[in-house]
Amino acid sequence: MDWGMRNRLARMFRPPSGNSVMLAVDHGYFMGPTRRLEDVRGTVAPLLPHADAVALTRGILRACVPAESATPVVLRVSGGATVLQEDLSDEAITTSMPEAARLNVSAVALSVFVGAPHEHQSLVNLARLVDESAETGIPVLAITAVGKELEKRDARYLALACRVSAELGAQMVKTYYCEGFSKVVEGCPVPLVVAGGPKLDSDRAALELAHGAIADGARGIDMGRNIWQSDHPVAMLKALRAIVHERATVREAMDVLEAERAARVSAPSAA
Ligand code: R5P
Repeated sequence: MDWGMRNRLARMFRPPSGNSVMLAVDHGYFMGPTRRLEDVRGTVAPLLPHADAVALTRGILRACVPAESATPVVLRVSGGATVLQEDLSDEAITTSMPEAARLNVSAVALSVFVGAPHEHQSLVNLARLVDESAETGIPVLAITAVGKELEKRDARYLALACRVSAELGAQMVKTYYCEGFSKVVEGCPVPLVVAGGPKLDSDRAALELAHGAIADGARGIDMGRNIWQSDHPVAMLKALRAIVHERATVREAMDVLEAERAARVSAPSAA
């Protein structure tokens, strides 16, 4: 692996843990203005300094992230279907690798739809991007099981989708946490990060998810709704950092969250 690609990966997977806390705000590319992500600029601004990377589309990057930001960017480059369609898997590459290079991103990301009507198309998209990543030094994050595929959230299915993505050359894979997740990790030779999925009942439940994933071998999280749909997004992000980077217990992470929340209530301008 060339220095450029190793450097891009090292900027996202941070020492001393070598893990990564990625903030996902790419939902609008197929869901439109998601709850509490209607104003992306306002949502993202206080969170950016606490994330090891931010995952978004080029339109949102240009419009909502200051060029002065030091947070590495994971650029979503697949799309072409919306929640109005039955079949979400009919995606193409929507942003070219030269454009990704111009935007100075640290990685590109695309969805693969294993088991969906357009499985073949999405896997060929991945393979093509991986070829292009060798030319540009920009690593590829394959995203498994979004949308309706999420219903198949079991270890056998996710292990298959993650392994196929790694076999086709993805340098990283994003998937979902599930029972028996260590089997998914075991079968995937590249770093795995987990998404959070729809907002869980409580902040604690999301911290438990992250804790379980890291304990089972995930190399980080790429989480959205359970951060910015929380009533305390910055506190939540800091608590997740404690789990991902310091291997904090759920109890310790809850302490971080409570302390941060209390500090922000007494000094609201910091929120
Ligand atoms: C799908 O919209 C994207 O891949 C999201 O980035 C991914 O699902 C992570 O976001 P969340 O934690 O909200 O599921």
